[in-house]
Amino acid sequence: MEKIKIADGIHLLTMNVEDILFEGVWKLANGVTLNSYIVKGEKTAIIDGVIGWDGVPETLYKNLADIDVDPKDIDYLIVNHMEPDHSGWIENFEKIKNDFTIVCTEKAAKLVTSFYGNERLKIVKEGDTLDLGNGKVLSFHPVPNVHWPDTMYTYESSSKTLFCCDMYGSFGKMGEHHFDDEMTDEEVEFFENEGIRYYSNVMTTFTPMLRRAIEKSKEFELNLIAPGHGPLYRKNTNKIINDYTRFSKYAEGAGKNEITILWGSMYGMTKKAITYAEKILEREGIKVNSLEMPLNTDSEMIATVFRSAGIIIAAPTYEYKLFPPVAAAMDEIGRKKITGKAAFRFGSYGWSGGAEKELNEIVERNRMKWDFVESIEFEGSPKQEDLDKIEAGIMELIQKMKEKIVE
Ligand SMILES: Cc1cc2nc3c(=O)[nH]c(=O)nc-3n(C[C@H](O)[C@H](O)[C@H](O)COP(=O)(O)O)c2cc1C
Ligand SMILES: [Fe+2]
Ligand SMILES: [Fe+2]
Repeated sequence: MEKIKIADGIHLLTMNVEDILFEGVWKLANGVTLNSYIVKGEKTAIIDGVIGWDGVPETLYKNLADIDVDPKDIDYLIVNHMEPDHSGWIENFEKIKNDFTIVCTEKAAKLVTSFYGNERLKIVKEGDTLDLGNGKVLSFHPVPNVHWPDTMYTYESSSKTLFCCDMYGSFGKMGEHHFDDEMTDEEVEFFENEGIRYYSNVMTTFTPMLRRAIEKSKEFELNLIAPGHGPLYRKNTNKIINDYTRFSKYAEGAGKNEITILWGSMYGMTKKAITYAEKILEREGIKVNSLEMPLNTDSEMIATVFRSAGIIIAAPTYEYKLFPPVAAAMDEIGRKKITGKAAFRFGSYGWSGGAEKELNEIVERNRMKWDFVESIEFEGSPKQEDLDKIEAGIMELIQKMKEKIVE
């Protein structure tokens, strides 16, 4: 855990976490950070306390001691969001101290009680404030369904800091650099990609509510955006606001000028057509992402599809249905409510076909509203006439995706 002073009386405590399944699902290629903040006036508050996946609060207590905070002197636990990656230590904290107050929204209060059985609660509503003394005043601003229904922003007025928990977060471990103005160009690019991974893996389902939270964050005078995961923004607080605005468009069909081929092939028949398609896309100067399923993680698959303006689904028929790993991927994309993508499918079959029918069912069931070019199915190995049709389909897809490109 690292401790970094971010303003007078305010510290960031941050730790990198690797080799975990985030939410029990997402295998993160580059890990994630958990950020917590201490605000010290005459009274002391901890915002979104973290203890890491090992669940060892002593690590937190030791680090607090290093910045001259005795855990027993903490008066307020500000719970912006009750998910246990931010609040999991409350139960343990009670063992060392029993006169603290948990500050949270009404919806969080219900969750805190059902998860930890705690009743030392101060419920806050929009605009409520908490004066910690020495000029440190916190105000609270619910942003429901930024991930969970209970979420709120905490704003500290003397430093003009927005503590936004899951909002404006990114995956990816932080190295020596924690602030936007310290980052190298490579790190900026790294965290933008990790921001896409984070948004698409855990936030995209809540896009309409995130849009409201984006608007709400613009109401504050901001010197610093301090999320619960990933870098802090002080040189250009608009950067992450603009990124999130763009990501919210990716959720509804926009994307970078890239085509992702989501594919699987048992004996290489569909693969032959993919090789041909890749040549066409190279000729047209379009960046291609190849996602062979089931070899890619769901985390990578969702992030890659999410950021692409065009999707090619290339998969054969398997037992009268769509090749299962590709069907599972499409279902996952549908559950995440990634809608409106320009798309094209082709694939091989042996005798009956059936892949197309199942793909249509998945798209319908999840109300994905993808804009499909007519699919091309071929028997066994693709013939030249099939490849010609695939080329025409790709050219149509490129046209369709043009209006969706947002870099
Ligand atoms: C396990 C298995 C199940 C299959 N089920 C069907 C089927 O239900 N209907 C059909 O038309 N073809 C079926 N096929 C045939 C494949 O769709 C065909 O071999 C196709 O060329 C495979 O393309 P690929 O080499 O790209 O995987 C099946 C093949 C396998 C290996
Ligand atoms: Fe969360
Ligand atoms: Fe979180």
